[in-house]
Amino acid sequence: MTVSILVTGATGTVGQHVAAALSDRDVAITIGVRDPETVSKEIADAGEVIKFDFTKPETWGRALTDVDGVFLVRPSVVDKSKIGSFVEAADRVGVGHIAYLSAIGAEKNVFIPHHWIENRIVATDMEYTLLRASFFMQNLLEVHCRDIVEHGEIFVPAGDGKTSFVDARDIGEAAAIVLTESGHVNRAYDLTGPEVVDYAEVATIFSDVLDRFISYPNPSLLAFGRRMRRRGKPLGFIALMCGIYTTARLGLAARVTDDSRKLLGRRPRRMRTFVEDHADDFRVDYRGRESGR
Ligand SMILES: NC(=O)c1ccc[n+]([C@@H]2O[C@H](COP(=O)([O-])OP(=O)(O)OC[C@H]3O[C@@H](n4cnc5c(N)ncnc54)[C@H](OP(=O)(O)O)[C@@H]3O)[C@@H](O)[C@H]2O)c1
Repeated sequence: MTVSILVTGATGTVGQHVAAALSDRDVAITIGVRDPETVSKEIADAGEVIKFDFTKPETWGRALTDVDGVFLVRPSVVDKSKIGSFVEAADRVGVGHIAYLSAIGAEKNVFIPHHWIENRIVATDMEYTLLRASFFMQNLLEVHCRDIVEHGEIFVPAGDGKTSFVDARDIGEAAAIVLTESGHVNRAYDLTGPEVVDYAEVATIFSDVLDRFISYPNPSLLAFGRRMRRRGKPLGFIALMCGIYTTARLGLAARVTDDSRKLLGRRPRRMRTFVEDHADDFRVDYRGRESGR
C-alpha cells in the first residue's frame, strides 16, 4: 500500500485535482512545484509543498525522499528526455509505483512524447499505472474561454468530429484511486467521459446553460491558426493545437470506454455538468491581457 506520494504538476489542470483527491485519503502528500511561494491555499493545505523542477535535477533528491508513489505529469514545455531521466531517478531511489498522466492512443502513436515516456516507465522496476486521458473539458475553460465569453463562439478547427471529452476532476480522482487502492498496478486505463459530442453539440449545451447563443463556426485550420497568431500564440503551440483538432476532425477522438466508470465507481461527468459547474467562469467579462482577435 502506498503511503507517501509525490504529486507533480499540482498547479496544473489535472494535478490540482489529484492533490485534492489524495488529501481526502490517509496518505502523506508531497507537492513538487517550481515556485512554492505562489501556490494557492488549497494546494498548500493538501500537503507539504517543496521546490521541484524537472529541468533541475538538484531538486529531485528532496522530492523523491521517502516517497512510495509518484503522480507524474509531463508539462508540455518540458522535453521528454528530462522526464525520462526523472523516471530513472525515481526507479533508482526505490519509488514503488508511478501513475503517469498520458494521452489516449499513446500506445499506438509513436509521434507523441507520451509513447516514449510510457515505454521508459514500463522498462523500470517500478510498478506503474498509465492514465491515458481523452481531451480535457477544461481546455474549453482555459484555451478557448475568451472566444466563448467575448465572441459567443467556440472557435476550434475540429470539423464535425466527435470527442469523448473527460473532466480533469474525474482524472484527478482516478489517479488518487490507482495510487492508494490495490488492483491497479501495471495496468493502463483509457479515461474518457461517458459520451461523445461534436462541437456543434457542445455549443448547444453552452447556449442552454448560459442562456445565451453560443455558435460553432467550424473554422478551418488556417482561420484558427491566423486568429491564434494575432493573439501572439507561439507557432509551436498553434501547430500542437492544430494536430490535436485534426485528430478530432478525423474522428479519432471519439472512442468512449468504461474505464472511468469502473475506476470511479460512478458515471464520469458529462459535458453539461462541466458547463453548469463553470457557468460563472464563462459568463464573466474576459479579463485577459491578450489583445487582438
Ligand atoms: N489537454 C488535454 O486535453 C490533454 C489530454 C490528454 C493528456 N494531456 C497531457 O496532460 C499533460 C498536461 O497536464 P495538465 O494540463 O494538467 O498540466 P498544465 O495545466 O499544462 O500544467 C503544467 C504543470 O506542470 C508544471 N510545470 C511546468 N514546468 C515545470 C517544470 N520545469 N518542472 C516541474 N513542473 C513544471 C506547472 O507548474 P508551475 O508552472 O506552477 O511550475 C503545472 O503545474 C500533458 O502531458 C498533456 O499532453 C492533455
